[in-house]
Amino acid sequence: MTALKKKIEKIITEQGPISISDFMKLALTDKKNGYYRKKMPLGSKGDFITSPDISQIFGEIIGVWILDLWIKLGKPKETQIVDLGGGRGTLLSDIKRVLGNKISSYIFIDINVELIKLQKKAVKDAIHFEKIEDIPNKPTIFIGNEFLDTFPINQFVLSHKYFKEVCVNYKNKKLIFSHHRTNLSRTLDKKTLNQIKVNDILEINFESRKFIEKLSRFIKENNGGAIFFDYGYTFNHGDTFQAVKDSKFVNPLDDPGNADLTAHVDFNDLYHQAKNSLVSVWGPDTQGTFLKKMGAIERLNALESISDDKTKQKLRNGLDRLINTDEMGELFKVLAITSNKFPSPEGFTCGTRGT
Ligand SMILES: C[S@@+](CC[C@H](N)C(=O)[O-])C[C@H]1O[C@@H](n2cnc3c(N)ncnc32)[C@H](O)[C@@H]1O
Repeated sequence: MTALKKKIEKIITEQGPISISDFMKLALTDKKNGYYRKKMPLGSKGDFITSPDISQIFGEIIGVWILDLWIKLGKPKETQIVDLGGGRGTLLSDIKRVLGNKISSYIFIDINVELIKLQKKAVKDAIHFEKIEDIPNKPTIFIGNEFLDTFPINQFVLSHKYFKEVCVNYKNKKLIFSHHRTNLSRTLDKKTLNQIKVNDILEINFESRKFIEKLSRFIKENNGGAIFFDYGYTFNHGDTFQAVKDSKFVNPLDDPGNADLTAHVDFNDLYHQAKNSLVSVWGPDTQGTFLKKMGAIERLNALESISDDKTKQKLRNGLDRLINTDEMGELFKVLAITSNKFPSPEGFTCGTRGT
């Protein structure tokens, strides 16, 4: 048994069942043994592969989106680009190829030492921080691809009278789920959540709400924007808590620290959080719609015209995976936030301007 599993079992034995949110925090970011502290999660040696490593067109299109936003911002000299959870650094490197020296600084936010090493190689002059509170106050454009899904969720289940929280418990030498009337579950009112039926699971990501509020405040005060891509939904979707190890789904409680734990992102909730924070919000749209509106097919055609047959096939397969509705095109959503001082960003079909 791993040291982290032992630590979690001890906490539960001494203090009682813990929320899924506390379990995720320990499993993912425990200083010594958390998944994102010690594992190399991405690429051929990792547990999964992400859009920037599937197709260069993903980063290039985001680069064009940022360039348009930057021009609309009035081309401020001091603008910084921040990649939230930068992975292998491929995304920021592809973006930098589009933006070049027009932008004065490139920043990664990350906590994984192995990935930080790769990010330093991919974007040589990039600066590293652990959290957004450390970023200098300047016009900033943030990117987050598969970043928000790392935030811990709380789960609730509606019994006949009220909500109970889904917790992680330790019984008969096993970590299991059990339902409890916690303080947090007491704050939920079934009348205001009338679309939920008995036994339905409700997921709330309080940490993402706080993060979007903080980020919106930063953008409002400093000017700029943010764009987020993630697998997610726009209406309540039930239980989406999942674990992936070696590219396979596994039980989230089986091997904390060694499997990637995520939950689908509630884009509707984030949209409302940003709107309440008085910034402009764009989307949510599907990733496929956004990439096509931004010219991904035209970019594919341009790259194909200078490629050999093998490269052409690779480029086609990669983009197909990103935009096809049966693959990532529909499941993945995109949401953007901007300060209110310039016209709408490109690529979105809907949005609400803040005040
Ligand atoms: C799923 S990966 C996505 C990587 C990259 N954006 C991409 O598209 O390839 C999540 C990234 O977020 C980082 N991360 C996870 N938890 C974090 C935290 N609490 N603070 C900062 N970065 C974090 C991971 O180390 C990793 O780089």
